[in-house]
Amino acid sequence: MAARIYPSLLAADFAQLADQVGRVEEVVDGLHVDVMDGHFVPNISFGLSVIEDLRPKTGLWFDTHLMMTNPAFFFPHFKAAGCDMVTVHIEVAPDPSSMAEQARAAGLKFGLTLNPPTPFAAVEPFLPLVDNLLVMSVYPGFGGQSFIPDVLRKVERARETIDAEGLAADIQIDGGITPETGRLARAAGADIFVAGSAIFGQPDPVEAVAALRAALKD
Ligand code: DX5
Ligand code: ZN
Repeated sequence: MAARIYPSLLAADFAQLADQVGRVEEVVDGLHVDVMDGHFVPNISFGLSVIEDLRPKTGLWFDTHLMMTNPAFFFPHFKAAGCDMVTVHIEVAPDPSSMAEQARAAGLKFGLTLNPPTPFAAVEPFLPLVDNLLVMSVYPGFGGQSFIPDVLRKVERARETIDAEGLAADIQIDGGITPETGRLARAAGADIFVAGSAIFGQPDPVEAVAALRAALKD
């Protein structure tokens, strides 16, 4: 399947969110919405009311990355705010089966993610339950960090497993994605490329998306 590009809202100018998203809307495939609780990660980004206010301004798919210790409590609230999918960290839910059910009951697609040191084995048993497997290629919490190449092995393992078992999950990668690192992740088998600094952090975000897309061509 063709590579998909989701810009990360974290790198946008928060005083002009609707304008920033509108600028790239036609050239991207979804919007990556990073929610941080100041507890699971040492940073706070934005919450429900920002998502709710942005929702009527764009038709983009809201892919919500929940860097939170207690995400399930908020699933119905994220749905009400206009999110389409929630992705939670395996580090806060070692057995996410009931969380997957709760997300679906709330009307959301469900994803799992793992931090750079967390082994692929932690998520492998749950792949049949997910729409999205997000392989973090930086430690979550901040934009603008450098890509950690070791995580490519997890992308390769995930690709092999998903293909061998005929599973539906997409493989997403997030952190330090540029045309160069995106190309490596594409070769390893990733489907969805999240980029903050390399899109909203650039003087011309539309041109930046085009450069990333060109690098991801098979
Ligand atoms: C980091 C977030 C990322 C972040 C990526 O915790 O999950 O989505 O915005 O930023 P860049 O692309 O700048 O590494
Ligand atoms: Zn993210």
